[in-house]
Amino acid sequence: RALLRRLWKGDASARMLHPRLQKAMGAYLRANKHGVRFRGRRAAGRSRTELLCALQGRVQVRTLDGTEPPFSALGWRALVPPVPLSRLFPRGLRTCAVVTSAGAILNSSLGEEIDSHDAVLRFNSAPTRGYEKDVGNKTTLRIINSQILTNPSYHFMDSALYKDVILVAWDPAPYSANLNLWYKKPDYNLFTPYVQRRQRNPNQPFYILHPKFIWQLWDIIQENTKEKIQPNPPSSGFIGILLMMNLCGEVHVYEYVPSVRQTDLCHYHEPYHDAACTLGAYHPLLYEKLLVQRLNVGAQGDLHRKGKVVLPGLQAVRC
Ligand code: C5P
Repeated sequence: RALLRRLWKGDASARMLHPRLQKAMGAYLRANKHGVRFRGRRAAGRSRTELLCALQGRVQVRTLDGTEPPFSALGWRALVPPVPLSRLFPRGLRTCAVVTSAGAILNSSLGEEIDSHDAVLRFNSAPTRGYEKDVGNKTTLRIINSQILTNPSYHFMDSALYKDVILVAWDPAPYSANLNLWYKKPDYNLFTPYVQRRQRNPNQPFYILHPKFIWQLWDIIQENTKEKIQPNPPSSGFIGILLMMNLCGEVHVYEYVPSVRQTDLCHYHEPYHDAACTLGAYHPLLYEKLLVQRLNVGAQGDLHRKGKVVLPGLQAVRC
C-alpha cells in the first residue's frame, strides 16, 4: 500500500519492492543479456512539459519496412503493408484507450468507457469475450510479443483474437539494433510466422516494430530515472502507450498505474498470481510506470478509482 501511494505520487524506488523482486532485478542487471550500453545523459528532474517535449523530439514510431539488410534481400519491401503504421489513420484519432491486462481491471465496470474511445489497444492474448463489462469489446490494435507468434498454445494463425485488428509485433533484439544479428538469433523466431501470415492475409495491417524504436524508449526511461534500470526492453504496455501517444490526440491508459484494486493477479483472464507482472522483474516496469505517472494530466481520483492515466498526444504538444 505504501508503494502504491508512492506510485500515485510518481516517486517510488526499487528499494520498496519485495526482496525477491529486487534480487531478480539485480540478476538481470548483472546478466545484461541484450548488451545494453547507456550512452545518454541522466536528466532526472524534468517537468511534465520538458518530458513531453523530449518525447516528441525523440520518439519516432518505426517498423520494419524492408529497406535494410537482411530484409531488403529477402523481398520484405513487397511483403510489409504498403501503408506505414504512422499513416494508417490519416485524419488522426481523437481519443484512444490503452487497456492493460492487469488483474486489477476485474470488477472495474470500465467496459463502456473503454469502448467509447475512437480506438482501443490491447495486448497479447488478452480476451474481451466474457469480460466485456470490465474491459469492453472493441479492439482496434493489438501489440503482440514474439512468444505469441511462436508458441503453439496461442494458436496465432487460427485464433479470432488476432483477426480483424491491426497487429504490431515485437521481439527483444540486441541493444546495438544490428538487424543481421537479430535475424539470425531472435529471442523467439517471429520472422517465419510473420511472413506466413502476410502471405495468407495480405490485407491485414501487420507490422514488426524496429528494434531502434524499442531501445529508444528504453534510453528515455533510463535518462529520466535516477536508479539503474533493468537492461531489458520496456514492457508491451509501455511500447503501446508511446505508440498511441503518436497516433492519438489523447490517450487514456487503464490499469497500468494500478488503482485501489491493485492485486497480485497477473492477468484478468488467468488464475496466476505474481507481483512481478505489475511491478516488474525482467521489464523495467516500475520505472516505466513512474515516468507515465509523471506525464499524467488526468484527475487523481480517476487514477485511484479507475487506474486511469490521461496523456496528451505528442502531435499537439507545443515546445
Ligand atoms: O503480460 P502482458 O505483457 O501480456 O500484459 C500487457 C501489458 O500490461 C504489460 O506489458 C504491462 O505493461 C501491463 N501489465 C501491468 N500489470 C499487470 C499485467 C500487465 O501493468 N499485472
